[in-house]
Amino acid sequence: MPSSPLQQVIRERILASPDRALSWAAVMELALYHPEHGYYGRGPLHLGRGGDFFTAVSVGPLYGRLLAGLAAKVWRALGAPEDFAIIEQGAHDGRLMEDVARGLDDMSCPLAARARFLIVESNDKYRAAQCARLSPVLGARLSWAATLDDLRRQPSCGFFMCNELPDAFPVHRIRWTGAEWVERVVTVDDDGFTFVWRDAPLLDACVEDEVVRLPPDLPPGYTTEVHPAAAAWMRQLGRAAFHGVALIADYGLEDHEYYSPARNDGTLRRYHDHKTDGNVLSRLGECDLTAHINFTRVMQEARASFEWSRCMDQGSCLTRLAADWLRGLDGRPPAPETAALLRQFHTLTHPAHMGGRFRMCISGRGLRKDDVLPG
Ligand SMILES: C[S@@+](CC[C@H](N)C(=O)[O-])C[C@H]1O[C@@H](n2cnc3c(N)ncnc32)[C@H](O)[C@@H]1O
Repeated sequence: MPSSPLQQVIRERILASPDRALSWAAVMELALYHPEHGYYGRGPLHLGRGGDFFTAVSVGPLYGRLLAGLAAKVWRALGAPEDFAIIEQGAHDGRLMEDVARGLDDMSCPLAARARFLIVESNDKYRAAQCARLSPVLGARLSWAATLDDLRRQPSCGFFMCNELPDAFPVHRIRWTGAEWVERVVTVDDDGFTFVWRDAPLLDACVEDEVVRLPPDLPPGYTTEVHPAAAAWMRQLGRAAFHGVALIADYGLEDHEYYSPARNDGTLRRYHDHKTDGNVLSRLGECDLTAHINFTRVMQEARASFEWSRCMDQGSCLTRLAADWLRGLDGRPPAPETAALLRQFHTLTHPAHMGGRFRMCISGRGLRKDDVLPG
């Protein structure tokens, strides 16, 4: 039976494990991040048209320009510090970082010449792509950190951003039997090749810590996900030393929507060629795999370590950030470049496009919320 190298790796790991099964989180980790065969592990692939899905970054440069405006506000609200870093994790091929840097240039903001640009990235293939794109623009002001923990020492002031990062973290899939939560694990069928689901006792203490938060009285068979990796990541981000703002943009739901009785099969999806479905065990390594963020949970962790946090839909947030630019348009038919930016604005903010489905969580430390996000 034909099988990809990644499927063989997963099958071998399943057969070598004591219970002949792996948690979905372990399978998702391999499918996305195996260094040779994982969907992301292989290196940055093309996003947007010609790729498997669009992100706000791949829509065009407007998104980065609006975030540049926010970074500048953060810098001013902190008193224009000499050392200020623009930090990104999940930077992919560096496109958002480039758009933010060019956005600062276009605003003639003094920060454009002073900011450091720091990417949290451990994968050398991504670092090489980011270096190729960004070094000509940023020169020696560009550097990397291997993990978020490296931000516990420096910078002291900064603006952290990530777009569609935590939705790509491995999640645990769980099922309510009517009496207890069990973990949905992946094993191989009797033919020895086909991946199939089965139930197993909860495997990790971190999963047990998450399931105690779930609502009681869900119907038997109710299947969903929990995100211990996203919660741990948010705690790690909270321990970073910088004063400033952390912006997390992604799609997701609040607790009551996520764990509503009607959503009885969770949010786990695969994406390929701009099509999506729930057949996540098919074509492992060839498709993006993702689950919605639980924003209630992420915000709970954010509030524990930042001075303030605010979560709003992307449409409202970007409309606020774009207010000055929109007011500056004089009502005459726009030049082609402005018309292109307005089309991007529409895609990013319209509730039927990205504006309603995506949310932006903004957390701050060492500055007032109203200085960067009035209203
Ligand atoms: C859906 S893509 C988004 C890419 C880009 N931010 C955008 O919006 O166009 C998710 C990205 O997160 C990266 N990623 C996942 N886990 C990561 C981690 N722990 N550190 C850095 N990048 C990570 C993946 O390699 C991939 O490039």
